[in-house]
Amino acid sequence: MANDQHATWGGRFSEEPAELMLKFSESVSFDSRLALYDLRVNRAHSAMLCKVGILSDEERDAIHAGLDRLENDIRNGKVEWDIRYEDVHMNLEQILTRDVPAAAKLHTARSRNDQIATDMRLYFKDVCRAIDERLAVLLNVLVEIAEREREVLLPGYTHLQRAQPVSVAHHLLAYAEMFSRDRVRFAAAADAANVCPLGSGALAGTTLPIDREFAAEQLGFVDADGKPRVTRNSMDAISDRDLFLDFAQACAVCGVHFSRVAEDMILWSTREFGFVELPDAFCTGSSLMPQKKNPDAMELLRGKAARLQGNLQTLFTMVKGLPLTYNRDLQEDKPPVFDSGDQVSICLEVLAGALGGMKVKAETCRKAVSDPLLLVTDVVDYLVRKDVPFREAHHLAGKLVRMAEVENVAIDRLPFDRVKSLHDSFDEDWAAVFDLERAMEKRTGAGMPGREAVESEVRDWRERLDHGES
Ligand code: ARG
Repeated sequence: MANDQHATWGGRFSEEPAELMLKFSESVSFDSRLALYDLRVNRAHSAMLCKVGILSDEERDAIHAGLDRLENDIRNGKVEWDIRYEDVHMNLEQILTRDVPAAAKLHTARSRNDQIATDMRLYFKDVCRAIDERLAVLLNVLVEIAEREREVLLPGYTHLQRAQPVSVAHHLLAYAEMFSRDRVRFAAAADAANVCPLGSGALAGTTLPIDREFAAEQLGFVDADGKPRVTRNSMDAISDRDLFLDFAQACAVCGVHFSRVAEDMILWSTREFGFVELPDAFCTGSSLMPQKKNPDAMELLRGKAARLQGNLQTLFTMVKGLPLTYNRDLQEDKPPVFDSGDQVSICLEVLAGALGGMKVKAETCRKAVSDPLLLVTDVVDYLVRKDVPFREAHHLAGKLVRMAEVENVAIDRLPFDRVKSLHDSFDEDWAAVFDLERAMEKRTGAGMPGREAVESEVRDWRERLDHGES
């Protein structure tokens, strides 16, 4: 085994770790993706060590030049990660020190514990921003469809039974609400990430005269006024994994939203519903049945929700009952969050692509929404306007439904005298409630599916998105 393998912590050991232990304990196979963040942390840390007089200007410059070369090599895929050095931090330090002897001073006044906590905070800030951008794209797609299809009405469902008429726009903008709440959750995670733990050391800081604020500033951990934000308790700073939970939670909730949109689209694209046609590019065929076009993208989106919830559960179980401060269990914190971040990102792209290419089948929607039973609740309102108490009005409308069923006629075709026989408040005009256009015009309140209300809902969304708001 290479001699330098033990350069970091080998001093007190008389035996090399077993090959099996190396294989078991390495994390570079998954934390090497933090390499560029780790280089940034190394840059800031060495600049800080120089500022406080621990490194000379020459040493700092040599380290920075070495870090630049290393960055180049990483970007060009020239760095080979070695599990003998366990993790990304030790791999980078080893490679750098071979090139720049002064790098032997780089790990002064820090530990991998505050280093990994810092790397991960940089990762979270980036990934939250990237996810937010994709959420914005998805919202744009939803709002575009809403604008284009705002004339199309279709039945809204409760219990998966036809309930009341709504518009395609109103239905799709319900998803927009969900995804805009996701933006708020990711923004909160990004804000929580924006505090620098560097300088917390292994758990109890350092005796050396470091400048935590300077390092934080270098790394962009600053508030709106540019003031550095540093963590307040060294023990918490290196063992805290709340941010991991917050992020994984935001991903899991977003996944639930994917699954709900996906389920609606799966239903809507069946022959039985037939409200939409999903784009070929996001469907697959059957290896056996030539006629099949399966909504695989939507089914996978529904399935990914399980995985995102699983990742959150993994993290919860991992941190529960862990004593302060660092315990090696915590190395297992990265695969679930990386997976959640990656999956949410690709899910957002797929969902935006699939919805963007989806066709609304206006004719099937029109047929389905012309079912007069969707407006029986409006009959209740008609009676209420004539001062019939709601409970009684509800009962009477129910009787009308029953009557139509027994007589096997459409409810709006029941003869007036039969209707009048139920209650004196029914007038000749009673069947006008089944005029769909009129019914939609009456739903004028904020947040309702009436034409005017939806128009303003769509306008509002357009404005907010154009102004970069969520
Ligand atoms: N690779 C380690 C992790 O991700 C870095 C911290 C190691 N610290 C330690 N005391 N062994 O958790």
